[in-house]
Amino acid sequence: MALYSEKVMEHFRHPRNVGSIENADAIGEVGNGKCGDIMRMYLKIDDDKVSDVKFETFGCGSAIASSSMVTEMIKGKPLKEVVKLTNKAVTEALDGLPTHKLHCSVLAEEAIHAAIQDYCSKNNIDYGVYKK
Ligand code: FES
Repeated sequence: MALYSEKVMEHFRHPRNVGSIENADAIGEVGNGKCGDIMRMYLKIDDDKVSDVKFETFGCGSAIASSSMVTEMIKGKPLKEVVKLTNKAVTEALDGLPTHKLHCSVLAEEAIHAAIQDYCSKNNIDYGVYKK
């Protein structure tokens, strides 16, 4: 069996929503100390929905594929739904990742949550309201 699924390879070769957003409403940046990879998510938020999302990832192919997939998963979605996003959902959407690459999808989950936390702190919103 191939190490990486077709979906992982496809998102790695043709990542969606690459880049940055000028005047983003929220930015989430996370890194993994062990591998040194860094992921940054930019969100535009309108009416408590993600109206646009872009990413910059300095990292491995699985991190790029996870970033790309997560942007597709959250675009247009309400923040209440986005805060429930897990790395498991990202991994499943990619038809799996090798065990030693699961942390790449964790980075995607963390980057999204960090961005929403950034949005909350900039707008004086209690992060908990989206968790209900
Ligand atoms: Fe660290 Fe992929 S190897 S994010």
